[in-house]
Amino acid sequence: MKALVIGLGSMGRKRVQVLTEQKVEVFGVDVREDRRFYIEKEYGITTFDCFEKGLEIKPDFLIICNKPNEHLFYVKFGLENGIHTFSEENCVSEFTLMDEVIKLSEREKSVVAAPSCSFRHHPCVRRIKKIVDSEILGDKNKGFITYHCGSYLPDWHTYERVSDYYVKDRETGGGRDMIVFEFDWLQWIFDDVKSVMATTKKYSDYEADIFDTYQIISGFKGGNTASVVIDLLLRWSNRYFRYVTELGEINWDYNSHNIHIYDAREDKWKIIPEAPISGPYKGWNQMDMYRDEIRHFIDAVRGNVEYCTNYRNEKRLNLLTLAVEESSRSGIKKDISDIYI
Ligand SMILES: NC(=O)c1ccc[n+]([C@@H]2O[C@H](COP(=O)([O-])OP(=O)(O)OC[C@H]3O[C@@H](n4cnc5c(N)ncnc54)[C@H](O)[C@@H]3O)[C@@H](O)[C@H]2O)c1
Repeated sequence: MKALVIGLGSMGRKRVQVLTEQKVEVFGVDVREDRRFYIEKEYGITTFDCFEKGLEIKPDFLIICNKPNEHLFYVKFGLENGIHTFSEENCVSEFTLMDEVIKLSEREKSVVAAPSCSFRHHPCVRRIKKIVDSEILGDKNKGFITYHCGSYLPDWHTYERVSDYYVKDRETGGGRDMIVFEFDWLQWIFDDVKSVMATTKKYSDYEADIFDTYQIISGFKGGNTASVVIDLLLRWSNRYFRYVTELGEINWDYNSHNIHIYDAREDKWKIIPEAPISGPYKGWNQMDMYRDEIRHFIDAVRGNVEYCTNYRNEKRLNLLTLAVEESSRSGIKKDISDIYI
C-alpha cells in the first residue's frame, strides 16, 4: 500500500514513522523545503513540494496533517477520486465543504474518510469507558465529570514561535483544535453534549489571536454534567479527570499513568496502571496511541472494520466549539441539541 502524507510538521513526522513501521510505502508533501529535507534524511522517503506531484505516485490513501482548517479539500478530493483519507482534527467556522464531505462520504461507502480521534486509542481513556459502561459505579447517566486539560502553548513546538504556525489564530484552529480533540473522547464515553455555558479568555502574553482558556459547563444528553477547563496556559502540562457517582469515583491524572477507582460499597481504592488493554505490561508511550489509531484506519481501508467515527461527528464537534465561544460572547447558555438531528 502507498500513503501520501500531506504536511510534514510535528504530526506528519509521527504519522510517517508509524506508517513506515507498518510496512506501508510512504511519500510526503510539504510546501516547506526544510521539512521535506528533514523527513527525507530521517526516514529515507521521497517527498514533493506540491500535492499534484505527490499524486503521481498513485496513493492508496492520504494522511492529512497540514493546518486544521485546510484538510477538507483533500478529504473531498479523496472521496471524488476513490482515495481513502485520514485527517487530523478539522477546525472550520464555515461548513459548505464539510457538508459536501459528509454527503459524499455517506454516498461513497467504499472510500474511507476518517477524521482522527487519537484519544479513543489511549489505554486510560479506553479503560475509563469500560468502567463507565460496566456501570460498576451505577447508572452511567447519574454522575458528574470534572476535567482539566492544560498545556503551555509555547512548549508545544519548542523549535518555532507560536506566531509561526497554525496555533497563532483561532480561524486556523488555534485553541479550537483542543476542544475538538478533547470533546471527541468525552462524548464517546458520556454521549452527546446538549448544552454549553462557557467563558473564554486570553490570559497569556504570547502572540496569538486565540482563547488560551476555555471554561465550559456542559450538559450531556443522558443527564450527566461536566465542568471542563481546556487551557494553553498551564506550565506543568497535564490532564486531570474525575467522574463522581453516589457509588464511588474514577480519578485519572494523566502524568501519573494510573487510573484510581474508589468503590464506596467496599470502601476500597483500586489502581489500574496505564497499560495495553490486553497482553503483558511493557510500559506505554504516546506513539503507541498513534500506532493503534493508524492500525485501525488501515483495518478500515482493508474492509475488516468500520472506522469508528465520521465527518458528521466532526461537524458536531466544530459546532460545539463555536457554540462554546458564542456562549462566552453572549453570556447565555446555548442549547445545541439541534446539531444532532
Ligand atoms: N492527533 C494528535 O494527537 C494531534 C496532536 C497535535 C496536533 N494535531 C493536529 O495535527 C495537524 C498538524 O499539526 P502540527 O502540529 O503537525 O502542525 P505543523 O505546523 O507542525 O505541521 C503542518 C505542516 O503542514 C505544512 N503545510 C502547510 N500547508 C501545506 C500544504 N498546502 N501542503 C503541504 N504541506 C503544507 C507546513 O509547512 C507544516 O510543515 C493539525 O490539524 C493539528 O490539530 C493532532
